[in-house]
Amino acid sequence: MRYDGTVVFVTGGAGFIGSAVIRHFLDHTGAFVVNIDKLTYASNRCSIPQAAGHPRYAFAELDICNENGLRALFECYRPAAVMNLAAESHVDRSIDGPGEFIQTNIVGTFTLLQESLHYWRSLMSARSEAFRFLHVSTDEVYGSLGASGLFTEATAYAPNSPYSASKASSDHLVRAYHETYGLDTTVTNCSNNYGPYQFPEKLIPLTIVNILLGKPLPVYGDGLQVRDWLHVEDHCAAITLALRSGRPGEVYNVGGNSETTNMEIVRTLCGLVDEALGARAELRAAFPNSPAVQAMPSVGLITHVRDRLGHDRRYAIDYAKAAAELGYAPARDLAMGLRATLDWYLANTRWWQALLGRDYADWLEKNYKR
Ligand code: NAD
Ligand code: DAU
Repeated sequence: MRYDGTVVFVTGGAGFIGSAVIRHFLDHTGAFVVNIDKLTYASNRCSIPQAAGHPRYAFAELDICNENGLRALFECYRPAAVMNLAAESHVDRSIDGPGEFIQTNIVGTFTLLQESLHYWRSLMSARSEAFRFLHVSTDEVYGSLGASGLFTEATAYAPNSPYSASKASSDHLVRAYHETYGLDTTVTNCSNNYGPYQFPEKLIPLTIVNILLGKPLPVYGDGLQVRDWLHVEDHCAAITLALRSGRPGEVYNVGGNSETTNMEIVRTLCGLVDEALGARAELRAAFPNSPAVQAMPSVGLITHVRDRLGHDRRYAIDYAKAAAELGYAPARDLAMGLRATLDWYLANTRWWQALLGRDYADWLEKNYKR
């Protein structure tokens, strides 16, 4: 791989997708990874089990808004690439309190770009030609689709939530640093990720955890909103391809080919959990409040709650450009991916049970009352 033997910065590497990227780099490349993370509520250093004592891994607890801290890291490690995944990522939290989203997603990306530019300009020509800034973004910047159509890279930006507006701003800044200063940047815009190590405030892990604990499953509005689900390891493959062979200044959409309504996701997970608990006595003993213990269907936990403000109805991705230029194609279908994700949450109860602290409890409480 192009980055073997070099240093790669990954911001937000203690989060869901960033940790998957780092696990991928440590397991499948020869790159030295520096994980730069502020350690917000959404982070978990246990999400990279292979990091402890790894000779090609370093961790820096740092806010990407901290320019002096970033400058010191650039001077110390002299990276060949920066992958920016640090963000406030949860739409509902952005509706309740947008300030942190503006700060991290816009000001943080700006600060990281400024320090990348400063460092890049100090490099001798061969190294400066190789340096690359990859920015991970979202399909939500394109707004909401009707019943048909797909987002392409040419779709006009129309972000609807404070989260997506902050991501859109960061995408524009990245583009501007390429157009104005010639920094080698690539942006990827992907759909909803799911898989192991996802914080249980997002729909899929929240549903799994709540079924196991026998808690209500909040479905916003009619539950017929559509998302395109992308397994996090397929997303990692796409990001790695974009880092290796994306064209400077280009944008690539990344999708999972798995458009599904929220109700369908929740109902499928109910069925999968019921099946798993029905077949395994040790799981019934571990989760005595789950409906399956009383031979009740978990779908009974589904509770329609007030709709999300400004809720986007449908997202769907055309990833033909990433397929043609990068050789990207999602390898996992949704049915297989959901089953594997449930198996992971069943086998790693300690990981998610440790997160069920005050912040999460408050969050759930608020959601039920919506
Ligand atoms: P996450 O919330 O799980 O993790 C974000 C990480 O960033 C956390 O470890 C957090 O501590 C860190 N962080 C937050 N603010 C920081 C700051 N100021 N400085 C340094 N670190 C900070 O998010 P995720 O789901 O892994 O998303 C990663 C990226 O992918 C984000 O940019 C998000 O917008 C984008 N994305 C996510 C999805 C998805 O479905 N999860 C889909 C499309 C795009
Ligand atoms: O599309 C990419 C985006 O996907 C990313 O940019 C975001 O970072 C990521 O959080 C995700 O955003 P969503 O808002 O789509 O994901 P979330 O899991 O919060 O919600 C998925 C859908 O399920 C959405 O339509 C809202 C709905 N939902 C969510 C929760 C948490 C419910 O109906 N009930 C819930 O309890």
